[in-house]
Amino acid sequence: MKAELLMLAPLLADYQARLDERFQRVCAFDEASRRALLSERPERFTTLVTNGGEGVPPWLMQALVNLRLIAVNGVGVDRIDLEQAHARGIAIVTTDDLLTDAVADQAVALLLAQLRQVCLADRFVRQGQWPLGGFPLLGTSLRGQRVGIIGLGRIGMAIAERLQPFGVVLAYHNRRPRAACTFAYHADPLSLAAACDILVVAAAGGSGSRHLVNAQVLEALGPNGVIVNVARGSVVDETELVARLADGRLAGAALDVFADEPQVPEALLGMDNVVLQPHLGSATLQTRQAMADCVVRAVISAH
Ligand code: 8YV
Repeated sequence: MKAELLMLAPLLADYQARLDERFQRVCAFDEASRRALLSERPERFTTLVTNGGEGVPPWLMQALVNLRLIAVNGVGVDRIDLEQAHARGIAIVTTDDLLTDAVADQAVALLLAQLRQVCLADRFVRQGQWPLGGFPLLGTSLRGQRVGIIGLGRIGMAIAERLQPFGVVLAYHNRRPRAACTFAYHADPLSLAAACDILVVAAAGGSGSRHLVNAQVLEALGPNGVIVNVARGSVVDETELVARLADGRLAGAALDVFADEPQVPEALLGMDNVVLQPHLGSATLQTRQAMADCVVRAVISAH
C-alpha cells in the first residue's frame, strides 16, 4: 500500500509522475477540497507539497495532526505558520536558491517593459494603429536612473547585479546593511524612496514586511516614480498604489504579484502605465524543472 501524499499545489507532470510511483496522491488545490479533508481522516497525512503563493492554511495545518514535512515548490514561506511548524517539529523544505536567477531576470524584464512601454506598444501594433500614425509616446532611458531595491537578499542582489551594467545608480533598504556592499544603504524605505526614481521590491513577504511601501513611501517616490514588484503583493499598500497610479501621483508600475492573487484590482486593468503579470517570477521551464526535482527528492528522502 502506497503512502498518501497531500498536494496543495501541482508540480510539473513528469515530476508528479515520479511521485506517483511511490505515493498515492491526494490533490486539494482549492478551498472546497481542502475543507472536505477535515472529515476525511486528515491524520493520515505526514507530508504535503505546496508552493510559495499557496502556503498552508493555518486551520488545515492544525487538522493535519501527523504532519512531519512541508515541501514548498518555491522559496516564500510567508503563508506558512512557522511558529506552529516549529512547535510541532514539522520540517519545511524550500527550493532555496533555485529560482533566484529566474526571478531576477523577471524583475529586469518588467522594469524595461515598463520604461519602454513594451506591452502598450505591442497592443498598438496588434490593434492596427501603426498605419494610422506612429506610436505617440516616448519611453524612459534606464541609464542614469536611481534604482532602490527593497530587500537585498539573494534575489535583490541578483537584480542589482543585472542592473549595474545598464548604468543605473543603485541603493537599497534591508533590515541590516549587507556586508561589503557598496550601494548606498537606507535604514528605512522612506529615505530610500526619497533618493530614488525606481523602487524594486524584492523583500520576503509576511507580517514583518507588510506595507513596507506605504502611502508615505509612495509619496516620497513622487510623480515620476516607478514601482516594480516581484516579491509579494503584501509588501506594498496596493490600494494606495492603485490610487496614485490612477491620478498621476506615481508614474508607473510593473507588477508580478498582488495582494489577493489571483485577483487583480479592476482599476489596474485599464491603465496604460502598468505592466501586469500573473506571478511568473520563477516560471521558466528550466527553473520549474529544477524546483520540482528538488521537491520530489525532499519528499522521497523523507519516506
Ligand atoms: C513560486 C514564489 O513560483 O517561490 C515563491 O515563493 O512565489 C514563486 O516564485 C511559486 O511558489 C510557484 O511554485
